Amino acid sequence: MQLLPGFRDFFPDDCARRNYILETWRAVARRYGFVEYDGPVLEPMALYEKKSGGEIVGQLFDFTDKGARHVAMRPEMTPTLARMVAARERDFKKPLKWFCVPQFFRYEKQQRGRLREFYQLNCDIIGEASPAADAELVAVLIDMLRGFGLTEKDFVVRLSNRDVWANFLIQNREKSDTCADSSGLETLLAVIDKMERQPDTVSNKLLEPLGVSAEQVRAWKDEWQNKLMSSSAIAGNPALAHLHEVIHSHLGPRNLQQFLEVDFSIVRGLAYYTGVVFEVFDRSKNERALAGGGRYDKLLSLMSDGKVDLPALGFGMGDVVLANLINDTPAAKAQLDAWLARERSADVYIIIAKEERRPEALALVQRLREAGQRTDFPLTAAKIGKQFQTAEQLGARFTVLVGDEWPQVKVKTLATRGEVLIPDEEVVAHIATAAI
Ligand code: HAM
Repeated sequence: MQLLPGFRDFFPDDCARRNYILETWRAVARRYGFVEYDGPVLEPMALYEKKSGGEIVGQLFDFTDKGARHVAMRPEMTPTLARMVAARERDFKKPLKWFCVPQFFRYEKQQRGRLREFYQLNCDIIGEASPAADAELVAVLIDMLRGFGLTEKDFVVRLSNRDVWANFLIQNREKSDTCADSSGLETLLAVIDKMERQPDTVSNKLLEPLGVSAEQVRAWKDEWQNKLMSSSAIAGNPALAHLHEVIHSHLGPRNLQQFLEVDFSIVRGLAYYTGVVFEVFDRSKNERALAGGGRYDKLLSLMSDGKVDLPALGFGMGDVVLANLINDTPAAKAQLDAWLARERSADVYIIIAKEERRPEALALVQRLREAGQRTDFPLTAAKIGKQFQTAEQLGARFTVLVGDEWPQVKVKTLATRGEVLIPDEEVVAHIATAAI
């Protein structure tokens, strides 16, 4: 039976690679004071119809369950998170710093960096409107990627602010009354999101009802990116001032500026974003983003019919694009390989040279395992040479030979081939010191 397209089997080696990513994500998120949460794999379809919008709704794995409910496999976490926080907001001290590492499902066309099932780290901060929160999020995002041995030569965080485009519409509305309100902004952002991937004729057709052109959009982008360099243009301009503060007041002192670029053509495809948004790209290739996120200050209010109104921001980072980048980056690949080698290797392999000594060998196996040593042994009788071969294949650091010399045993360090004969009761302590 064939696998479904876009789904993966995780053989032990694939599982180890996946664990490397998940463990690194968890370790860095915890270092930044984020705490882990999770939600259900299946949600009511309406959750995504109302809150995700855009492309994601067309990519849902949805069906009617046996109770006639229209449900969907989760394609992302943000609507679930907003629902959870809105339901129990009072139980938590703000700002919340929460993370999760769930598996998601999207019916996309399978290609490099894009599957129908993937893991995605989410880090979100809820209840803080200050630029300090945007910076904290971007900082954890950068350190997350550095945790894999990636550097500023390998990836870039492109920062933007959707409000720049609200300003663009306001200015154009003054010039021509064809230019629309908030639905106009949605149309504009959807065009900008695709503009570099489609011919201008297509973009211009879509922009026509707004009374603007692709050329004007590009000119506005350049003008506003330049404005960010001038303190007089920033003063009194909230969209630029917020971004300027994120970059210069909060990320500059952490020495993270070399990872950043301002690019107002980044607007994000999802419906709920407000204000600052960002995406992370591989520096050398123009592939799918490694991660993306931003502010969604209105989503909790929308989710709770106005009862809970908390500013929020977060990002998602997928495992598929990240694994490709790690494999293509020699230093990151070497770090992964070293981790895999450690992960695969046993600490100790017990060689049972005399089958009559199996009970004593089992007692020793037990003591070593209780002491925390990753210990293995032959389950059935085997030639000594074969047992040493297995020890090598398992990447064991030590062998302990139980045989004729009992109650003395031979401890061998496989890397140096050095051997010592010591009493059985000293093995655990000997290996503990030798292993350091
Ligand atoms: P997103 O841009 O849809 O954002 O996804 C974030 C990342 O997940 C992408 O940059 C990509 O690496 C990965 N990803 C998405 N779809 C696929 C796929 N089909 N196959 C492989 N990887 C994929 C969100 O999901 C937002 N909810 C993130 C967020 C959290 N915003 C605020 N908090």
